[in-house]
Amino acid sequence: MKFFVDTADLDEIAEAASWGALAGVTTNPTLYAKIGGSLSGFPAHIQRICALVDGPVSAEATKTTRQELIAEGRELAALAPNVVVKLVMGAEGLAACRALADAGIGVNMTLVFSVPQALLAARAGARYISPFVGRFDDIAEDGIAQLGEIVDALSNYDWQNVGVAGQGLEVIAASIRSAQHVTQAALIGADIATVPFAVLKKCIEHPLTAQGIQAFEKDWEKVCQV
Ligand code: G3P
Repeated sequence: MKFFVDTADLDEIAEAASWGALAGVTTNPTLYAKIGGSLSGFPAHIQRICALVDGPVSAEATKTTRQELIAEGRELAALAPNVVVKLVMGAEGLAACRALADAGIGVNMTLVFSVPQALLAARAGARYISPFVGRFDDIAEDGIAQLGEIVDALSNYDWQNVGVAGQGLEVIAASIRSAQHVTQAALIGADIATVPFAVLKKCIEHPLTAQGIQAFEKDWEKVCQV
């Protein structure tokens, strides 16, 4: 499973990229609002993110109709070669996804919560599909089970030539809230997990690793005194 970081914060992205294990970035309007982003600054901000990361960067189109989404998607895709256009699931999003995929532009279909939604997004040519895990858990349903169903259902078919020619389809486990979600997404076989920076940091840690480091340091002090 590959790791994306789910943030629009440049410092977080730079730090996560410095670990050498980051494969991409996902952003959305909420994450951009969280860092105090402005409408006029959005294109340059996406370009800055794209320069920090050697991998796909999802930038969300925010318009409503398919015609508007296609135009906005083309503008976003022109910002950098590694931009992926994020579209929200729906009739307009599906139609725009097909048009953008036919134009060779990668789409990440977001706000996917069911197998039929995932299958439709895949048929419409999505390069990535983002089933949300945590938001199911927020309403006392099992987000990991839903992710498992989507991964299983998609694996019954060959998606190699459905979207942008030869690029295939990958499932991004999104709305990840814990290291446990990351473990479960990997066990299910999600291709990618997009993880908030704070959760990504927790994924590095383990109490036994911390305990082991302390013991090594203490014993090395003894060695240094000999
Ligand atoms: O990429 C979008 C998704 O990960 C958002 O997650 O935490 O807002 O449910 P969340």
